[in-house]
Amino acid sequence: MPKRNQTLGEFIIENQADFAYSSGELSRLINSLRLAAKVVNHEVNKAGLVDIIGGYGETNIQGEDQQKLDVMANETFIQTLTNREIVCGIASEENDDFITIAGCDRDHQNKYVVLIDPLDGSSNIDVNVSVGTIFSIYRRVSPIGTPVTKDDFLQAGNNQVAAGYIIYGTSTMLVYTTGNGVNGFTLNPALGSWYLSHPDMKIPTTGKIYSINEGNYVHFPQGVKDYIKYCQEEKEDRPYTSRYIGSMVSDIHRNMIKGGIFIYPKSSKATNGKLRLLYECNPMAFIVEQAGGKATDGFKRILEIKPEELHQRVPFFCGSTRMVEKAEEFMAQYGD
Ligand code: AHG
Ligand code: MN
Ligand code: MN
Repeated sequence: MPKRNQTLGEFIIENQADFAYSSGELSRLINSLRLAAKVVNHEVNKAGLVDIIGGYGETNIQGEDQQKLDVMANETFIQTLTNREIVCGIASEENDDFITIAGCDRDHQNKYVVLIDPLDGSSNIDVNVSVGTIFSIYRRVSPIGTPVTKDDFLQAGNNQVAAGYIIYGTSTMLVYTTGNGVNGFTLNPALGSWYLSHPDMKIPTTGKIYSINEGNYVHFPQGVKDYIKYCQEEKEDRPYTSRYIGSMVSDIHRNMIKGGIFIYPKSSKATNGKLRLLYECNPMAFIVEQAGGKATDGFKRILEIKPEELHQRVPFFCGSTRMVEKAEEFMAQYGD
């Protein structure tokens, strides 16, 4: 039974059952991620103080400008996991291809791969708005002791062993699941310890918040347009409240606590939407489902999609079950 104020370290030890079949490897992996998160948290907090804000002058594989902190966060997570030889492979939103951890075919027998969005919502850094990190962990499918392959990363989301996000907000939180519910830990920055502040998180079955970039309204599919009009209608418990931070981790974290729906649909400008299946949608879908919510592409469950590309994008409807189901009703009227 999770105890409030327990530290993350104590929680992991007490809940070894969550890490079944593991020789402590998954616990050590989560420990590495929480360490890297503290480093990134420290840098994010300093963003307003030092002159490290702004584009690096490079564009990532998605064609987007990279911010300096994106690069720093990417390197921090990769280096922490690499130095500790804790995984056999890493795929990052910021890297074109996956990384094979040296020695995974010889010296160590690690069986997990990590997929990561090191800094989510990075356009918000220079305006002092919450950003996040998202991670997703799978057991490799290729044989232990051989180099990792693309198929180790291209697994359907329902194969995830664990997933989580870190939100660098008014306080810094680590929220994760190993498939036995969702627990949230808040960082005490003075001590560098994470405390269990949100045990067994449950997303309300319905809510009154919808989060979508309505500026793209004219480009949305008709089903999404109709659902937005439904949210704005003066009827029953509506109109709903519109909240869109532009930082998915923050938008979904808020909806996890208050109830709500987050939508990033496809549009006539972006035929598969914007968000990446492997680094963003699968981990958030796993967490939200584990909290009792729902995540689909408007028609089918995100976690059942078989990925074809590392950087594949997918439309995303995620949040309180009844709200996602209502949005799906509108989508079904027009088909995909
Ligand atoms: P990232 O910073 O990792 O590229 O992700 C940003 C994502 C997501 O966090 C956010 O919800 C969405 O992009 C915002 O996109 P729009 O500006 O198109 O609404
Ligand atoms: Mn992102
Ligand atoms: Mn990112």
